[in-house]
Parts: sequence; C-alpha cells; structure tokens
Amino acid sequence: MEKQNKKTRTLQKRCLIIYTSYSGNTERVANIIREVFLRNSWTCDSFNVKQGFDVETPPFEFEDYDFLCVGSLVIWGLPPDEILDVMRTVSRRAGWVAYGKVVPGPKLGLAFVTYAGAHLGPKEAIPALKLLELELEHLKFKCVGLLSAPGKYIRAAPHHTPTWYHGDHMVRPSEEDINRIEKAVQKILDDSGESSVPLESHCD
Ligand SMILES: Cc1cc2nc3c(=O)[nH]c(=O)nc-3n(C[C@H](O)[C@H](O)[C@H](O)COP(=O)(O)O)c2cc1C
Repeated sequence: MEKQNKKTRTLQKRCLIIYTSYSGNTERVANIIREVFLRNSWTCDSFNVKQGFDVETPPFEFEDYDFLCVGSLVIWGLPPDEILDVMRTVSRRAGWVAYGKVVPGPKLGLAFVTYAGAHLGPKEAIPALKLLELELEHLKFKCVGLLSAPGKYIRAAPHHTPTWYHGDHMVRPSEEDINRIEKAVQKILDDSGESSVPLESHCD
C-alpha cells in the first residue's frame, strides 16, 4: 500500500505559485488558484515573496515544477521589485537571458495581478501582467493565462472611490471576481497545451 502511495506521489504534477501581496488581495487570488490545482490532483507549493526574501537561495527550484503561477499587486503600473527580482536572479544565474534565444515550453505558466485601476480600469493591469509574462517565459514556462481582478487600495479614502473606474473598488476582489478566476484556471488546466487564454476575458 505504502509502495502504491509513493508511486502515486511521484506521478503527481507539481505547481509552484509565487506572488507578492502587501494587503492580502493578491493572496486571495493565489489561494483560489492553489485550490483549483489541488482539486485537480496536483501538488502545489505557494510563497508570498516579501521584502527581504532571499532571491539568491529561494526555498524552491523552478525546474522542480511542471506549472508556474506568478502574481503581484500593481504599483505605479508595474509589479513590485520583490517578485521580479526572484525571477530575474534565477534566470540570469541559469544563463538563459545571457545566452540567446529562449523557447518557452513545454512547461506552462500563468500570470495574475490585482490592481486598483482608479483611472483607466483594466488597462492599468496590463503592463504588470505582460512584464510577469515576459519573466515567466525567460524562465521557460510558456504563459497560457493572464488573470486580473480589481483589488481594494488600502490607502484610498472611501469618499473618493465612488468616482473611480470601479466604483465598488472598496469591496474587490468580490466573490464574483474570485469565482471568475477559479473558472478561468480550471479552463486553463482543461485546455493545457493550447494557446493563451485571451486577456480580455479576464479583465472586467
Ligand atoms: C504604493 C502603491 C501603489 C499602487 N499603484 C497602483 C497603480 O499604479 N495602479 C493600480 O491600478 N493600482 C495601484 N495600487 C493598488 C494595488 O495594486 C491594489 O490595491 C492591489 O489589489 C493590492 O494588492 P495586495 O492586497 O495583494 O497588496 C497601488 C497600491 C500601492 C500600495
């Protein structure tokens, strides 16, 4: 029986989720992504990459995983340095950036962000998503999904936010946002190996 369990364990595919979340919004998204992978019989390790994280010796090896999910909040239109540093340090050390063309795949990945989008809405998530996609692919994981959800900006004054693009911004990500992301991740898993999920279907 124990032998059988060991065999099952080694056959299980492995997902790594790394993200930076200051106030918990992106962490909620990371948690639902993790749940979907677990429900689909994957193993899943998840790390919040905070300031002071040891980027030279992270507690994981990217090459140990079959699927990589990277996420963050949006700061001044982009992901914060913490999450970029850990990805860039590893790809630089592996020589992938220095030594020419990188062909992402066959391993897959996805990028996710939460953002306030006060002025322009979903557009404000796109540069961060695309930069995370770029770094994911430098690590050779082919990006097959870009997911975003509005997230409450903790420093916003409640009396200002009704005029923001997402007037209900103070209660985002909502249950609806989380359900939408859950379905999108399930679809990505169902479609594994196919082309990217259209960005537009994940930004509202
Ligand atoms: C310092 C700072 C700068 C931010 N800049 C932006 C921005 O440029 N565009 C945007 O849409 N949201 C911006 N936000 C809002 C956050 O991206 C949003 O609230 C996010 O959901 C926070 O995620 P977290 O709870 O995982 O930290 C900013 C938040 C902070 C704290």
